[in-house]
Amino acid sequence: MEPFAARIAGTPPHLTLLPMSRRHVRRASDLVGYVIDEEALQALIIAGDPVVYEIYEPEVPDAEGHLVFGLTVLYPGRIGPEYHLTKGHFHIRRATAEVYHCLHGTGYLVMQDGEGSFRAVALLPGAVAYVPPGWAHRSVNTGEEPLVLLYVYPGGAGHDYETVRRQGFSHVVVEVDGRAEVLPRDAVRRRVKGG
Ligand code: F6R
Ligand code: ZN
Repeated sequence: MEPFAARIAGTPPHLTLLPMSRRHVRRASDLVGYVIDEEALQALIIAGDPVVYEIYEPEVPDAEGHLVFGLTVLYPGRIGPEYHLTKGHFHIRRATAEVYHCLHGTGYLVMQDGEGSFRAVALLPGAVAYVPPGWAHRSVNTGEEPLVLLYVYPGGAGHDYETVRRQGFSHVVVEVDGRAEVLPRDAVRRRVKGG
């Protein structure tokens, strides 16, 4: 392929990437199995199944030797107590890392390795976050504006969503008295189930 330059277009918070050849839209219904409050999620789906995040990518082959890059735009909102989040995944080829650069908004990049160690890295405009090889990763928007993230990862890394859907992350990012807190998932789940 030929060298090229993509362009981050628009004015914050309405940013996109041009030229864009792939656009993925993830709605509330795509998050079934990934959130704690499944009842709140079903209510959202019935009420119109809103878009939670979008992904824009230029034409880079998802193949070894390439660096796939793009923009994730994660819209503000909550599903029950949890702030809007991406599904999250391990890379199938565990020995592949990823870089995220926060262009707009506020939130967390939450990460967990295969042994269950958990980390939450704050995302603010200008932050450049590093996902080491072997760490599952998920973005969470704790603000009131879209969280816009530029990401770069090795082509051919592949995406393992199933492990995250089955096991979840040990901690979740929830609203408590108007503020974002990172809390153990099991404690939050007990509270949600108990009403
Ligand atoms: C790619 C990557 C990001 C995410 C995107 C959406 O390896 O980490 O591009 O794919 O932020 O999140 P998921 O893929 O978890 O739905
Ligand atoms: Zn990734």
